[in-house]
Amino acid sequence: MSNNSSQLSRHSARNFSDKSVDLEQLKEIISEAQHAPSWENAQPWKVYLAVGETAKQIRKANADAVDQQKKSWAEVTPPQEWAAKPQKNIDDWLKRMATYMGDDVQLFGEAGKNLYNAPAIAYITIPKDSTQFSAYDTGAFGYGILLAAEERGISSLPAYSFVRFPEIVRQYFNISEDEVILMGIGLGYPTDAKINKMETVREPLDAALQIRD
Ligand SMILES: Cc1cc2nc3c(=O)[nH]c(=O)nc-3n(C[C@H](O)[C@H](O)[C@H](O)COP(=O)(O)O)c2cc1C
Repeated sequence: MSNNSSQLSRHSARNFSDKSVDLEQLKEIISEAQHAPSWENAQPWKVYLAVGETAKQIRKANADAVDQQKKSWAEVTPPQEWAAKPQKNIDDWLKRMATYMGDDVQLFGEAGKNLYNAPAIAYITIPKDSTQFSAYDTGAFGYGILLAAEERGISSLPAYSFVRFPEIVRQYFNISEDEVILMGIGLGYPTDAKINKMETVREPLDAALQIRD
């Protein structure tokens, strides 16, 4: 892989500056991501993009909901238990994050509460009762957004935190009852905050790859 690969330079940002992202660039990013492959070109995803005043109001509503300890569920719920391999990697990541953040570890939760101050949030939906193949297709589409943004010097964060209160998101968009909100992606320009500089590692190749020749 070449050293200037956007796959290697991309990493999650969790504190965005107030600088807005040019709307034309955001449209280009999403348009490029639409070239993701999908089952018989099914393209199951839809995108709802919050920018400007709408993103600001959603961030505020989210912070209020967290402060009020509102009970809510994402429309696609995480599992109660993960399989052993992902669980081990999650544990490693949590440890790494706690060590890196040290006394500032509570900033992680606060960042989520404020939706990372993201000036643009792309909400991705799929049809209700989608098959796992639609989730596969939409993951490729979501990653396409991250890479197309990275290539333009725009940072990103895919996060469950964005979709914890789907009723807030639905207030701002016309999202059909036949769709579920799967994921939210924050886009913008990172500040110099320490939280933006956390490095993650990947398991060794042979933990994920088996080859027979
Ligand atoms: C489906 C999904 C949900 C995520 N949810 C969160 C989240 O709620 N909060 C957060 O800080 N990061 C979240 N992340 C970001 C991951 O923690 C991050 O991608 C991972 O640790 C690898 O780090 P990197 O993106 O910097 O390479 C999420 C990522 C994905 C793909």
